[in-house]
Amino acid sequence: MAKNTVSMDKLISLAKQRGFIFQSSEIYGGFAGGYDLGPLGVALAENIKNLWRKKFIQERDDVVALDSGILMASKTWEASGHISNFSDPLTECKKCHKRFRADHLEEDGVTDCPECGGELTEPKQFNLMFQTHAGPTQDKDSVVYLRPETAQGIFVNFDNVLQSSRMKVPFGIAQIGKAFRNEITFRNFIFRVREFEQMELEYFVKPGEDEEQFKYWRQFCMDFLTNDIGLKKENAHFRDHEKEELSHYSKSTTDIEYDYPFGTKELWGIANRTDYDLKQHSDHSGKKLEYRDPHSNEVFTPFVIEPSVGVSRLLLAVLVDAYDVVEGGRSTTTDANKEEEVVLRLHPAIAPVQVAVFPLSKKKELQDRAQGIAKVLRADFRVQYDESGSIGRRYRRQDEIGTLHCVTIDFDSLEDKKVTVRHRDTMEQERVAIEELTDYIKESASNIST
Ligand code: GAP
Repeated sequence: MAKNTVSMDKLISLAKQRGFIFQSSEIYGGFAGGYDLGPLGVALAENIKNLWRKKFIQERDDVVALDSGILMASKTWEASGHISNFSDPLTECKKCHKRFRADHLEEDGVTDCPECGGELTEPKQFNLMFQTHAGPTQDKDSVVYLRPETAQGIFVNFDNVLQSSRMKVPFGIAQIGKAFRNEITFRNFIFRVREFEQMELEYFVKPGEDEEQFKYWRQFCMDFLTNDIGLKKENAHFRDHEKEELSHYSKSTTDIEYDYPFGTKELWGIANRTDYDLKQHSDHSGKKLEYRDPHSNEVFTPFVIEPSVGVSRLLLAVLVDAYDVVEGGRSTTTDANKEEEVVLRLHPAIAPVQVAVFPLSKKKELQDRAQGIAKVLRADFRVQYDESGSIGRRYRRQDEIGTLHCVTIDFDSLEDKKVTVRHRDTMEQERVAIEELTDYIKESASNIST
């Protein structure tokens, strides 16, 4: 497996400095397992989500969207098995009383407390669902849970969607939304957090066609990662679950793992959930969640193939994958400090900024012209206008956030109506007529492969 040598400390520092990711509640010392997306983080996450919507919903005629609530009837979680099964093994140090995931310690080959070396208790199962209360009284009848996955909102709406949209099996229901898990330990930045967004598809198929569909969706997800998002092929791998690690609902599961700098870890889970969920909800609610084949009149409970990925976990893979350190700096830089420079080689489809526009100097006529050009470009691109610092410094800032093209307006531009376009990856510069700029940038972005 490829070894990823990106320094997480440097990446975390860049993510903060450039406004991708901030620690939650930082001014109060931080909130463990919580992160906030800054302006560029929002843009990157939105681009990833939009691409997912395009590929998983918009471009297909067999998938529709849903947006279900975070809070649901508690019976949902009894039926789904989350109240009895959704737990992690927790161990506590007898000396310092710190708590750890027993399975993580086992993975690392650690048998004593990693903090103080004390003896650890026998692991106990700890339910990961956050609880709160609905209504003014706080008793066992008012307990509700923050959903730990978006999938159940899809299952309980199966019949609503079927009846209202008249979809025919095989078909899917897709949803992007927040999920919450009371994770015990946090490591590795935004890889494992307590509050995250999931992008989930529940694809309903005829029993017997499930394994073929499972294989199809595994590959579909891998292609999405490597072709559309632009992750390097050598960093993403399939890993099939062994029988004993399968979730209680799953017949087969494959993870797409990514080579993060802290190890090769699950990025995306693709599971064959069988008819488990629809049958459980049918039994618990009394409402039969079944499908009648319009041709044969055969009635059956569909099997479900589920590709499920966390937005922040994918965003981290995207940042790591794009993060490129150029030792000794890049040649056009005029800065004195040329030790190393970072280029975020993001795929054009997801780069938060596609075009940066610079006036060469702070002369008003150049600024006015540059702002005018930026305004026109905003109709087609995500644009950032920047007038501060040397051009070299401005290029460097844009390289660090993955901007594809930098457009500089100089005094000649006022005469010859041309600007200089500088390309992120090659650093080539070209004079381009202002009236051809939009087409030029579109053409150029379509030729970039990461
Ligand atoms: N509905 C199936 C399901 O939720 P999962 O494997 O528990 O399955 C699916 O989660 C995906 O959600 C994972 O592959 C991961 O990308 C993301 N995910 C799960 N727990 C997470 C956490 N604590 N922080 C960030 N992402 C998480």
